[in-house]
Amino acid sequence: MDIIEAIMTRRSIRKFTGIPISKEQEDIILKAGFQAPSAHNMQPWEFVVIRDIEVLKGIKEYHKYAQMVDNAGFAILVCGDTKKQKSLGFLIEDCSASIQNMLLAAHGIGLGAVWCGIYGGEDLVDKTRSLLEIPEDIIPIGLVVIGNKVEEKNPKHIYDENKIHYDKW
Ligand SMILES: Cc1cc2nc3c(=O)[nH]c(=O)nc-3n(C[C@H](O)[C@H](O)[C@H](O)COP(=O)(O)O)c2cc1C
Repeated sequence: MDIIEAIMTRRSIRKFTGIPISKEQEDIILKAGFQAPSAHNMQPWEFVVIRDIEVLKGIKEYHKYAQMVDNAGFAILVCGDTKKQKSLGFLIEDCSASIQNMLLAAHGIGLGAVWCGIYGGEDLVDKTRSLLEIPEDIIPIGLVVIGNKVEEKNPKHIYDENKIHYDKW
């Protein structure tokens, strides 16, 4: 899929067939995650690939907005290493760029995906850290839930020229 087409047609997909993605698809998506830009080129990302249904169900128990995760059968938790990226702001931005790359890669190869927020959600960081045994110096940022989709969504049209400012506000 052409890159502009991918960007313009990507939507959050939350309904899946239940058949997990293949290892080849997983590799493509992970490689896209690694290709993101990062402040000072620190590449602070770490990825927890989750296929274990019990772990996916464990996430569902505490994450109200990730109820689709076990049905997708696959998710990647993107975490930031505070030893590599000292600025929390940059760490979040770097990991977010990686997440967006993975969402677009998943869409580009015909899969459905949704970004489930972890950082910024009350208790979500602590509960995710505990479930997945994540060390204290690693911060879970976002969960990318990916699967074979059963729903198609129309592209959205939210371009708004009122939000564009030229040369000054
Ligand atoms: C930081 C962040 C956190 C999000 N968290 C969730 C979530 O927990 N569960 C969910 O279903 N969608 C989540 N989303 C997806 C948004 O709901 C979605 O992007 C938005 O409604 C726009 O829809 P679209 O992605 O189809 O354009 C999140 C998106 C972002 C950027």
